[in-house]
Amino acid sequence: MKVYKAHILYTKEKNRFEVLENGYIAVDADGCVTGVSTNLASLHGEDSEVVDFGDRLLIPAMNDLHVHAPQYRNQGIAMDMELLPWLHNYTFPEEMKYADTEYAERMYRRFVRDLWRVGTMRTCTFASVHTESTRVLMRLFQESGMGALVGKVGMNRNCPEGLSESVEDFVHGYESLIAEFNDPNALVRPIVTPRFIPSCTPEMLRACGELAAKYHLHVQSHLSENRDEIALVQQLEPESTSYGDAYDRYGLFGQTPTVMAHCVFSESEEIALMKRRGVIVAHCPTSNLNVTTGIAPIRQFLDEGVRVGFGSDISGGHNLSIFQMMVYAIQMSKLHYQRNHARSFLTLSEAFWMATKSGGSFFGNVGSFEPGYEFDALLIDDRDLNHDNYSLLERLERFIYIGDDRQIEKRFCRGKEIKEL
Ligand code: GUN
Ligand code: FE
Repeated sequence: MKVYKAHILYTKEKNRFEVLENGYIAVDADGCVTGVSTNLASLHGEDSEVVDFGDRLLIPAMNDLHVHAPQYRNQGIAMDMELLPWLHNYTFPEEMKYADTEYAERMYRRFVRDLWRVGTMRTCTFASVHTESTRVLMRLFQESGMGALVGKVGMNRNCPEGLSESVEDFVHGYESLIAEFNDPNALVRPIVTPRFIPSCTPEMLRACGELAAKYHLHVQSHLSENRDEIALVQQLEPESTSYGDAYDRYGLFGQTPTVMAHCVFSESEEIALMKRRGVIVAHCPTSNLNVTTGIAPIRQFLDEGVRVGFGSDISGGHNLSIFQMMVYAIQMSKLHYQRNHARSFLTLSEAFWMATKSGGSFFGNVGSFEPGYEFDALLIDDRDLNHDNYSLLERLERFIYIGDDRQIEKRFCRGKEIKEL
Protein backbone atom coordinates (compact mmCIF):
# COMPACT_ATOMS: atom_id res chain seq x y z
CA MET A 1 0.00 0.00 0.00
CA LYS A 2 1.06 3.58 -0.71
CA VAL A 3 -0.04 6.71 1.12
CA TYR A 4 0.11 10.18 -0.44
CA LYS A 5 -0.09 13.38 1.57
CA ALA A 6 -1.27 16.66 -0.01
CA HIS A 7 -4.20 19.09 0.02
CA ILE A 8 -6.91 16.82 -1.36
CA LEU A 9 -9.97 18.14 -3.22
CA TYR A 10 -12.71 16.14 -4.93
CA THR A 11 -16.49 15.97 -5.36
CA LYS A 12 -18.49 13.11 -3.86
CA GLU A 13 -21.68 14.99 -4.67
CA LYS A 14 -22.29 17.59 -7.33
CA ASN A 15 -23.16 20.40 -4.96
CA ARG A 16 -20.05 20.56 -2.83
CA PHE A 17 -16.33 19.93 -2.73
CA GLU A 18 -14.63 17.70 -0.19
CA VAL A 19 -11.54 19.60 0.95
CA LEU A 20 -8.87 17.92 3.09
CA GLU A 21 -6.10 20.26 4.13
CA ASN A 22 -2.97 18.15 4.63
CA GLY A 23 -4.95 14.99 3.89
CA TYR A 24 -3.79 11.44 3.29
CA ILE A 25 -4.97 9.03 0.67
CA ALA A 26 -4.14 5.32 0.76
CA VAL A 27 -3.87 3.34 -2.47
CA ASP A 28 -3.56 -0.46 -2.64
CA ALA A 29 -1.45 -2.59 -4.98
CA ASP A 30 -4.32 -2.81 -7.50
CA GLY A 31 -4.38 0.99 -7.78
CA CYS A 32 -7.59 1.43 -5.77
CA VAL A 33 -8.22 3.96 -3.02
CA THR A 34 -8.67 2.28 0.36
CA GLY A 35 -9.15 5.40 2.44
CA VAL A 36 -8.90 9.19 2.51
CA SER A 37 -8.58 11.21 5.70
CA THR A 38 -6.71 13.92 7.56
CA ASN A 39 -5.92 11.29 10.18
CA LEU A 40 -3.16 8.95 9.02
CA ALA A 41 -3.81 6.40 11.77
CA SER A 42 -7.41 5.92 10.57
CA LEU A 43 -6.08 4.68 7.21
CA HIS A 44 -4.13 1.85 8.87
CA GLY A 45 -1.25 3.15 6.86
CA GLU A 46 1.27 3.52 9.66
CA ASP A 47 3.64 0.96 8.18
CA SER A 48 3.21 2.23 4.63
CA GLU A 49 5.55 4.51 2.87
CA VAL A 50 4.11 8.07 3.03
CA VAL A 51 4.91 10.22 0.03
CA ASP A 52 4.61 13.84 1.13
CA PHE A 53 3.61 16.25 -1.63
CA GLY A 54 3.74 19.23 0.72
CA ASP A 55 1.68 22.28 -0.24
CA ARG A 56 0.42 20.87 -3.55
CA LEU A 57 -3.18 20.09 -4.54
CA LEU A 58 -4.22 16.52 -5.32
CA ILE A 59 -7.40 16.16 -7.41
CA PRO A 60 -9.04 13.43 -9.50
CA ALA A 61 -7.79 13.31 -13.10
CA MET A 62 -9.89 14.48 -16.03
CA ASN A 63 -12.16 12.27 -18.17
CA ASP A 64 -12.92 13.11 -21.81
CA LEU A 65 -16.13 11.41 -22.95
CA HIS A 66 -16.09 12.51 -26.57
CA VAL A 67 -13.24 13.32 -28.94
CA HIS A 68 -12.17 12.42 -32.48
CA ALA A 69 -8.53 11.33 -32.60
CA PRO A 70 -8.25 11.51 -36.42
CA GLN A 71 -9.44 15.11 -36.41
CA TYR A 72 -6.48 16.23 -34.31
CA ARG A 73 -4.75 17.93 -37.20
CA ASN A 74 -7.89 20.01 -37.85
CA GLN A 75 -7.85 21.43 -34.32
CA GLY A 76 -8.34 25.19 -34.50
CA ILE A 77 -9.29 25.45 -38.18
CA ALA A 78 -12.45 25.23 -40.29
CA MET A 79 -14.86 27.09 -38.05
CA ASP A 80 -16.99 28.66 -40.79
CA MET A 81 -19.70 26.05 -41.39
CA GLU A 82 -22.51 24.26 -39.66
CA LEU A 83 -22.36 20.55 -38.95
CA LEU A 84 -23.25 18.75 -42.19
CA PRO A 85 -21.21 20.89 -44.63
CA TRP A 86 -18.41 21.02 -42.04
CA LEU A 87 -18.25 17.21 -42.03
CA HIS A 88 -18.18 16.92 -45.81
CA ASN A 89 -15.75 19.77 -46.49
CA TYR A 90 -13.22 19.45 -43.67
CA THR A 91 -13.67 16.41 -41.51
CA PHE A 92 -14.14 13.54 -43.92
CA PRO A 93 -11.16 14.57 -46.12
CA GLU A 94 -8.87 14.56 -43.05
CA GLU A 95 -10.19 11.22 -41.77
CA MET A 96 -9.54 9.64 -45.21
CA LYS A 97 -5.80 10.09 -44.58
CA TYR A 98 -5.96 7.45 -41.85
CA ALA A 99 -5.95 4.71 -44.47
CA ASP A 100 -2.19 5.32 -44.10
CA THR A 101 -1.03 3.76 -40.81
CA GLU A 102 2.22 5.75 -40.80
CA TYR A 103 0.31 9.02 -40.92
CA ALA A 104 -1.96 7.62 -38.21
CA GLU A 105 0.97 6.66 -35.97
CA ARG A 106 2.50 10.14 -36.28
CA MET A 107 -0.72 12.03 -35.55
CA TYR A 108 -2.07 9.63 -32.92
CA ARG A 109 1.19 9.80 -30.96
CA ARG A 110 0.78 13.58 -30.68
CA PHE A 111 -2.85 13.18 -29.72
CA VAL A 112 -2.13 10.70 -26.90
CA ARG A 113 0.81 12.75 -25.62
CA ASP A 114 -1.34 15.89 -25.52
CA LEU A 115 -4.12 14.16 -23.60
CA TRP A 116 -1.46 13.25 -21.05
CA ARG A 117 -0.27 16.83 -21.04
CA VAL A 118 -3.69 18.33 -20.21
CA GLY A 119 -4.33 15.81 -17.45
CA THR A 120 -6.92 13.60 -19.15
CA MET A 121 -6.27 10.04 -17.95
CA ARG A 122 -9.41 8.41 -19.45
CA THR A 123 -10.64 9.08 -22.93
CA CYS A 124 -13.59 7.84 -24.92
CA THR A 125 -12.58 8.49 -28.49
CA PHE A 126 -13.67 7.95 -32.05
CA ALA A 127 -10.96 6.62 -34.35
CA SER A 128 -11.71 6.39 -38.09
CA VAL A 129 -13.22 3.59 -40.18
CA HIS A 130 -9.76 2.08 -40.68
CA THR A 131 -9.13 -1.06 -38.64
CA GLU A 132 -5.32 -0.98 -38.72
CA SER A 133 -5.05 2.69 -37.78
CA THR A 134 -7.49 2.08 -34.96
CA ARG A 135 -5.20 -0.72 -33.77
CA VAL A 136 -2.27 1.74 -33.85
CA LEU A 137 -4.21 4.17 -31.64
CA MET A 138 -5.17 1.44 -29.17
CA ARG A 139 -1.57 0.23 -28.91
CA LEU A 140 -0.39 3.79 -28.29
CA PHE A 141 -2.87 4.15 -25.45
CA GLN A 142 -1.65 0.83 -24.04
CA GLU A 143 1.93 2.05 -24.24
CA SER A 144 0.95 5.28 -22.46
CA GLY A 145 -0.63 3.51 -19.46
CA MET A 146 -3.76 5.65 -19.67
CA GLY A 147 -7.34 4.39 -20.05
CA ALA A 148 -9.24 4.60 -23.32
CA LEU A 149 -12.36 3.36 -25.00
CA VAL A 150 -11.51 3.49 -28.70
CA GLY A 151 -14.03 3.15 -31.53
CA LYS A 152 -13.39 1.99 -35.04
CA VAL A 153 -16.11 4.04 -36.75
CA GLY A 154 -19.04 2.41 -38.53
CA MET A 155 -20.23 4.33 -41.59
CA ASN A 156 -21.59 3.26 -44.95
CA ARG A 157 -23.73 6.07 -46.36
CA ASN A 158 -23.69 9.81 -47.01
CA CYS A 159 -19.91 9.88 -47.04
CA PRO A 160 -17.05 9.71 -49.56
CA GLU A 161 -16.23 6.29 -50.93
CA GLY A 162 -12.96 6.08 -49.01
CA LEU A 163 -14.81 6.26 -45.71
CA SER A 164 -17.61 3.87 -46.56
CA GLU A 165 -17.14 0.27 -45.49
CA SER A 166 -19.43 -2.69 -46.11
CA VAL A 167 -21.17 -4.08 -43.05
CA GLU A 168 -19.32 -7.35 -43.54
CA ASP A 169 -15.89 -5.69 -43.63
CA PHE A 170 -16.83 -3.52 -40.68
CA VAL A 171 -17.80 -6.51 -38.52
CA HIS A 172 -14.75 -8.48 -39.61
CA GLY A 173 -12.38 -5.59 -38.83
CA TYR A 174 -14.11 -4.88 -35.56
CA GLU A 175 -13.86 -8.48 -34.41
CA SER A 176 -10.15 -8.52 -35.15
CA LEU A 177 -9.76 -5.64 -32.70
CA ILE A 178 -11.90 -7.41 -30.11
CA ALA A 179 -9.66 -10.47 -30.50
CA GLU A 180 -6.56 -8.42 -29.65
CA PHE A 181 -8.10 -6.22 -26.94
CA ASN A 182 -10.20 -8.88 -25.26
CA ASP A 183 -9.60 -8.40 -21.52
CA PRO A 184 -12.71 -6.78 -20.00
CA ASN A 185 -10.62 -5.30 -17.15
CA ALA A 186 -7.95 -3.78 -19.36
CA LEU A 187 -7.52 -0.01 -19.46
CA VAL A 188 -7.83 0.07 -23.26
CA ARG A 189 -11.00 -1.39 -24.75
CA PRO A 190 -12.96 -1.22 -27.98
CA ILE A 191 -16.26 0.69 -28.01
CA VAL A 192 -19.00 0.25 -30.62
CA THR A 193 -19.13 3.44 -32.68
CA PRO A 194 -21.79 4.04 -35.31
CA ARG A 195 -20.83 7.58 -36.42
CA PHE A 196 -24.43 8.82 -36.28
CA ILE A 197 -27.69 7.78 -37.90
CA PRO A 198 -27.11 9.76 -41.15
CA SER A 199 -23.84 7.81 -41.75
CA CYS A 200 -25.26 4.33 -41.12
CA THR A 201 -27.79 2.18 -42.97
CA PRO A 202 -30.23 0.12 -40.91
CA GLU A 203 -28.01 -2.94 -41.58
CA MET A 204 -24.96 -1.13 -40.18
CA LEU A 205 -26.90 0.01 -37.11
CA ARG A 206 -28.20 -3.52 -36.56
CA ALA A 207 -24.66 -4.92 -36.84
CA CYS A 208 -23.44 -2.36 -34.26
CA GLY A 209 -26.21 -3.28 -31.82
CA GLU A 210 -25.39 -6.97 -32.26
CA LEU A 211 -21.67 -6.43 -31.65
CA ALA A 212 -22.40 -4.49 -28.45
CA ALA A 213 -24.74 -7.19 -27.15
CA LYS A 214 -22.57 -10.14 -28.16
CA TYR A 215 -19.31 -8.82 -26.69
CA HIS A 216 -20.77 -6.67 -23.86
CA LEU A 217 -19.21 -3.52 -25.27
CA HIS A 218 -19.90 0.14 -24.56
CA VAL A 219 -21.51 2.28 -27.28
CA GLN A 220 -20.84 5.87 -28.36
CA SER A 221 -22.39 8.16 -30.95
CA HIS A 222 -23.80 11.64 -31.61
CA LEU A 223 -27.32 12.75 -30.68
CA SER A 224 -29.46 15.82 -31.43
CA GLU A 225 -26.55 18.13 -32.26
CA ASN A 226 -27.99 20.20 -35.10
CA ARG A 227 -31.44 20.94 -36.59
CA ASP A 228 -30.56 19.83 -40.14
CA GLU A 229 -29.13 16.59 -38.76
CA ILE A 230 -32.28 15.92 -36.74
CA ALA A 231 -34.48 16.53 -39.81
CA LEU A 232 -32.34 14.10 -41.78
CA VAL A 233 -32.68 11.43 -39.10
CA GLN A 234 -36.46 11.85 -39.12
CA GLN A 235 -36.40 11.31 -42.89
CA LEU A 236 -34.07 8.28 -42.72
CA GLU A 237 -35.82 6.60 -39.78
CA PRO A 238 -39.43 7.72 -40.24
CA GLU A 239 -40.85 5.23 -37.72
CA SER A 240 -38.76 6.56 -34.85
CA THR A 241 -40.45 8.88 -32.37
CA SER A 242 -37.21 10.71 -31.55
CA TYR A 243 -33.53 10.61 -32.59
CA GLY A 244 -32.78 8.67 -29.40
CA ASP A 245 -35.56 6.23 -30.20
CA ALA A 246 -33.94 5.59 -33.60
CA TYR A 247 -30.78 4.32 -31.82
CA ASP A 248 -32.88 2.47 -29.29
CA ARG A 249 -34.55 0.38 -31.99
CA TYR A 250 -31.12 -1.05 -32.86
CA GLY A 251 -30.03 -1.76 -29.28
CA LEU A 252 -27.76 1.29 -29.22
CA PHE A 253 -29.31 3.36 -26.45
CA GLY A 254 -28.34 2.07 -23.03
CA GLN A 255 -28.73 -1.67 -23.62
CA THR A 256 -25.00 -1.60 -22.83
CA PRO A 257 -23.28 1.48 -21.29
CA THR A 258 -23.83 4.28 -23.80
CA VAL A 259 -22.52 7.81 -24.23
CA MET A 260 -24.16 10.28 -26.59
CA ALA A 261 -22.41 13.51 -27.55
CA HIS A 262 -24.17 16.88 -27.57
CA CYS A 263 -27.94 16.37 -26.89
CA VAL A 264 -28.42 20.10 -27.52
CA PHE A 265 -31.94 19.72 -28.92
CA SER A 266 -33.07 16.75 -26.85
CA GLU A 267 -36.72 17.11 -25.82
CA SER A 268 -38.80 15.53 -23.10
CA GLU A 269 -39.36 12.09 -24.65
CA GLU A 270 -35.69 11.68 -25.56
CA ILE A 271 -34.55 12.98 -22.17
CA ALA A 272 -36.88 10.55 -20.38
CA LEU A 273 -35.48 7.67 -22.44
CA MET A 274 -31.88 8.73 -21.67
CA LYS A 275 -32.71 8.80 -18.00
CA ARG A 276 -34.47 5.45 -18.05
CA ARG A 277 -31.60 3.80 -19.89
CA GLY A 278 -28.75 5.46 -17.99
CA VAL A 279 -27.38 6.98 -21.21
CA ILE A 280 -24.68 9.51 -20.33
CA VAL A 281 -24.47 12.83 -22.16
CA ALA A 282 -21.07 14.11 -23.31
CA HIS A 283 -21.42 17.88 -23.09
CA CYS A 284 -19.06 19.53 -25.59
CA PRO A 285 -19.34 23.29 -25.01
CA THR A 286 -16.52 24.47 -27.29
CA SER A 287 -17.75 22.32 -30.16
CA ASN A 288 -21.28 23.62 -29.67
CA LEU A 289 -19.93 27.17 -29.92
CA ASN A 290 -17.69 26.57 -32.94
CA VAL A 291 -20.09 24.47 -35.01
CA THR A 292 -22.86 26.98 -34.14
CA THR A 293 -24.93 24.34 -32.48
CA GLY A 294 -26.39 26.03 -29.43
CA ILE A 295 -26.50 25.66 -25.66
CA ALA A 296 -27.27 22.20 -24.31
CA PRO A 297 -29.78 22.00 -21.42
CA ILE A 298 -27.23 20.92 -18.82
CA ARG A 299 -29.10 22.43 -15.87
CA GLN A 300 -32.14 20.37 -16.86
CA PHE A 301 -30.03 17.20 -17.21
CA LEU A 302 -28.53 17.72 -13.75
CA ASP A 303 -31.87 18.55 -12.11
CA GLU A 304 -33.62 15.57 -13.73
CA GLY A 305 -30.86 13.10 -12.90
CA VAL A 306 -29.63 12.49 -16.47
CA ARG A 307 -25.98 11.48 -16.36
CA VAL A 308 -23.60 14.02 -17.91
CA GLY A 309 -19.86 14.52 -18.37
CA PHE A 310 -17.59 16.50 -20.70
CA GLY A 311 -16.16 15.97 -24.17
CA SER A 312 -13.57 18.11 -25.92
CA ASP A 313 -14.92 16.95 -29.31
CA ILE A 314 -11.78 17.88 -31.21
CA SER A 315 -12.02 19.18 -33.93
CA GLY A 316 -15.53 20.61 -33.61
CA GLY A 317 -14.02 21.74 -30.33
CA HIS A 318 -10.67 23.56 -30.50
CA ASN A 319 -9.43 22.86 -26.97
CA LEU A 320 -8.35 19.51 -25.54
CA SER A 321 -8.38 20.55 -21.87
CA ILE A 322 -11.32 19.34 -19.78
CA PHE A 323 -10.49 22.13 -17.30
CA GLN A 324 -11.31 24.56 -20.08
CA MET A 325 -14.54 22.63 -20.80
CA MET A 326 -15.60 23.40 -17.22
CA VAL A 327 -14.96 27.12 -17.77
CA TYR A 328 -16.78 27.26 -21.14
CA ALA A 329 -19.69 25.24 -19.79
CA ILE A 330 -20.14 27.60 -16.84
CA GLN A 331 -19.86 30.66 -19.08
CA MET A 332 -22.37 29.30 -21.61
CA SER A 333 -24.72 28.41 -18.81
CA LYS A 334 -24.52 31.99 -17.56
CA LEU A 335 -25.39 33.34 -21.01
CA HIS A 336 -28.36 31.01 -21.17
CA TYR A 337 -29.42 32.03 -17.67
CA GLN A 338 -29.44 35.73 -18.49
CA ARG A 339 -31.26 35.44 -21.81
CA ASN A 340 -33.82 32.89 -20.74
CA HIS A 341 -34.45 33.65 -17.07
CA ALA A 342 -33.29 30.12 -16.32
CA ARG A 343 -33.46 28.64 -12.85
CA SER A 344 -29.75 28.91 -12.10
CA PHE A 345 -26.40 28.64 -13.83
CA LEU A 346 -23.88 25.85 -13.54
CA THR A 347 -21.62 26.05 -10.47
CA LEU A 348 -17.94 25.17 -10.20
CA SER A 349 -18.62 22.11 -8.06
CA GLU A 350 -21.18 20.86 -10.57
CA ALA A 351 -18.76 21.32 -13.46
CA PHE A 352 -15.94 19.65 -11.52
CA TRP A 353 -18.21 16.74 -10.62
CA MET A 354 -19.17 16.37 -14.31
CA ALA A 355 -15.49 16.28 -15.30
CA THR A 356 -14.53 13.77 -12.59
CA LYS A 357 -17.03 11.56 -10.80
CA SER A 358 -19.92 11.76 -13.25
CA GLY A 359 -17.84 11.53 -16.44
CA GLY A 360 -15.53 8.98 -14.85
CA SER A 361 -18.47 6.65 -14.10
CA PHE A 362 -18.50 5.67 -17.78
CA PHE A 363 -15.10 3.98 -17.22
CA GLY A 364 -16.02 2.21 -13.98
CA ASN A 365 -15.20 3.35 -10.43
CA VAL A 366 -13.31 6.37 -11.70
CA GLY A 367 -13.35 10.07 -10.85
CA SER A 368 -13.55 10.23 -7.07
CA PHE A 369 -11.30 9.51 -4.11
CA GLU A 370 -13.87 7.50 -2.18
CA PRO A 371 -12.71 4.02 -1.11
CA GLY A 372 -13.03 1.53 -3.97
CA TYR A 373 -12.32 4.12 -6.67
CA GLU A 374 -9.38 3.65 -8.98
CA PHE A 375 -6.67 6.17 -8.13
CA ASP A 376 -6.68 8.50 -11.15
CA ALA A 377 -5.16 11.75 -9.96
CA LEU A 378 -3.33 14.95 -10.81
CA LEU A 379 -0.82 16.67 -8.58
CA ILE A 380 -1.03 20.44 -9.03
CA ASP A 381 1.84 22.73 -8.11
CA ASP A 382 0.31 26.21 -8.38
CA ARG A 383 3.15 28.21 -6.84
CA ASP A 384 3.66 30.10 -10.10
CA LEU A 385 0.01 31.25 -9.96
CA ASN A 386 0.86 33.25 -6.82
CA HIS A 387 -1.36 31.20 -4.59
CA ASP A 388 -0.47 32.92 -1.30
CA ASN A 389 -3.45 33.91 0.85
CA TYR A 390 -6.03 32.07 -1.20
CA SER A 391 -8.12 29.28 0.30
CA LEU A 392 -7.59 25.76 -1.08
CA LEU A 393 -10.84 26.01 -3.00
CA GLU A 394 -9.86 29.36 -4.49
CA ARG A 395 -6.51 27.88 -5.49
CA LEU A 396 -8.33 25.10 -7.33
CA GLU A 397 -10.70 27.58 -8.99
CA ARG A 398 -7.78 29.73 -10.15
CA PHE A 399 -5.97 26.71 -11.52
CA ILE A 400 -9.11 25.67 -13.46
CA TYR A 401 -9.60 29.15 -14.89
CA ILE A 402 -6.06 30.38 -15.51
CA GLY A 403 -3.82 27.33 -15.13
CA ASP A 404 -2.56 24.91 -17.75
CA ASP A 405 -0.29 21.87 -18.08
CA ARG A 406 2.65 23.74 -16.56
CA GLN A 407 1.12 23.34 -13.12
CA ILE A 408 0.41 19.61 -13.50
CA GLU A 409 3.40 18.03 -11.83
CA LYS A 410 2.34 14.38 -11.71
CA ARG A 411 -0.38 12.24 -13.26
CA PHE A 412 -1.71 8.89 -12.05
CA CYS A 413 -3.98 6.37 -13.74
CA ARG A 414 -5.25 3.32 -11.84
CA GLY A 415 -2.60 3.91 -9.19
CA LYS A 416 0.41 4.14 -11.52
CA GLU A 417 2.32 7.31 -12.25
CA ILE A 418 2.04 8.04 -15.98
CA LYS A 419 5.01 9.56 -17.77
CA GLU A 420 5.12 11.36 -21.11
CA LEU A 421 4.72 9.04 -24.11
N1 GUN B 1 -21.62 14.10 -36.12
C1 GUN B 1 -21.18 13.11 -36.92
N2 GUN B 1 -19.84 13.12 -37.02
C2 GUN B 1 -19.42 14.16 -36.28
C3 GUN B 1 -18.13 14.69 -35.98
O1 GUN B 1 -17.09 14.21 -36.44
N3 GUN B 1 -18.10 15.77 -35.16
C4 GUN B 1 -19.24 16.31 -34.63
N4 GUN B 1 -19.13 17.37 -33.83
N5 GUN B 1 -20.46 15.86 -34.90
C5 GUN B 1 -20.55 14.78 -35.71
FE1 FE C 1 -18.13 14.50 -32.23
